[in-house]
Amino acid sequence: MSELYRFGISLDRELIEAFDRHISEQHYQSRSEAIRDLIREELVRKKWTEGGAVAGAIVMTYNHHKRELVNRLLDIQHDFHDIIISTQHVHLDHGNCLEVIAVKGNAPDVEKLSTALKVLVGVKHLNLSVSAAE
Ligand code: NI
Repeated sequence: MSELYRFGISLDRELIEAFDRHISEQHYQSRSEAIRDLIREELVRKKWTEGGAVAGAIVMTYNHHKRELVNRLLDIQHDFHDIIISTQHVHLDHGNCLEVIAVKGNAPDVEKLSTALKVLVGVKHLNLSVSAAE
């Protein structure tokens, strides 16, 4: 485990009260845990905007009865094979599929893949979630 550092933060009473209400609703065990998450989130956001390395998942649902769509989805995934780690396919019901695509690569490439899939007719919903790659 890495070394722990302690530091004090000065805040307005109003701000800390609002923060405490917020973290209690989120079921955080302590302010430290909540602040750690905020810092990590901000660093991932910074990495994303700077185009750094990210790891994440694209979660999408689509109608597989659109035959051309299935071919396009496969073509696009092959075009981006260097940033796709794995793909999991779930047959949700007779007409609908769920796909979870694990990705690792530079933020602009990950965004390009996500957008290429999202705009296809028949894709009902797509969500991209990212973390820092290292
Ligand atoms: Ni399916």
